[in-house]
Amino acid sequence: MSTQATTKKMTVPAFRARKNVEKLVVLTAYTAPVAKILAPHVDALLVGDSVGMVLHGLPSTLGVTTEMMILHAAAVKRGAPDTLIIVDLPFGSYQSSPEQAFETAARILKETNCDAVKLEGGVEMADTVQFLSERGIPVMGHVGLTPQKINQFGSYKSQGRDEQAAEQIVEDALAFEAAGAFSIVIEGVLVTLADRITEEIEIPTIGIGASPQCDGQVLVTDDMVGLFSDFTPKFVRKYANIAADIDTAAKNYAADIRSGAFPSDKETFR
Ligand code: KIV
Repeated sequence: MSTQATTKKMTVPAFRARKNVEKLVVLTAYTAPVAKILAPHVDALLVGDSVGMVLHGLPSTLGVTTEMMILHAAAVKRGAPDTLIIVDLPFGSYQSSPEQAFETAARILKETNCDAVKLEGGVEMADTVQFLSERGIPVMGHVGLTPQKINQFGSYKSQGRDEQAAEQIVEDALAFEAAGAFSIVIEGVLVTLADRITEEIEIPTIGIGASPQCDGQVLVTDDMVGLFSDFTPKFVRKYANIAADIDTAAKNYAADIRSGAFPSDKETFR
């Protein structure tokens, strides 16, 4: 557990300054009660567009809308008012121009009171990152396996496996840093590549399926607690098995109702 996160609110500059000081702990959150449980243990919460797959049963993150992100981000903020909260810009809400990105990001921050946004890409999005950063919107970049490009990738396999592709991902990270990003998520790349990026850039790298040498780690909470079982990436460590607990609870509840054991006298008004 981070001492800093429990004593005072983490800010974007403080998060950035943690490079080479103490590992950063990030988890996703989409709802108020879960955000409240996670808050004392993390340095930041990410309202990821993974919400589309994890909570809404979408086949990919592509169908996630700005309205969905606002609804979930506002709930997370209510559950964890003193935690640094980063919100994903959803597919199609920022890629066409820096102005489009600014409008979406400003709307999200105004309507949710969250702190920063995250966007996927690399060199092609650097102008946008600079446009937002210069106008008061802190941006976290996301490179490597960027799920919004699933139709180009064809599957959620690791990226940057040949020399040219690896160089491109390094360029992407460097471009985000030069454009003013305060941190970068590196997802689904070889350890050696994540290590190289972590060494070459001066802002914190947050790994997911990347390397223990990253400056911090992020996981999708529902994967980490064994709640989202459609598919579990190899890099996830399950710290609980909530799906099994819910299954057992529902089975016992049904059995109690069918046998007349629930509700008992204690659980009724007389
Ligand atoms: O959408 C998300 O939850 C993410 C994390 C997996 C990094 O982008």
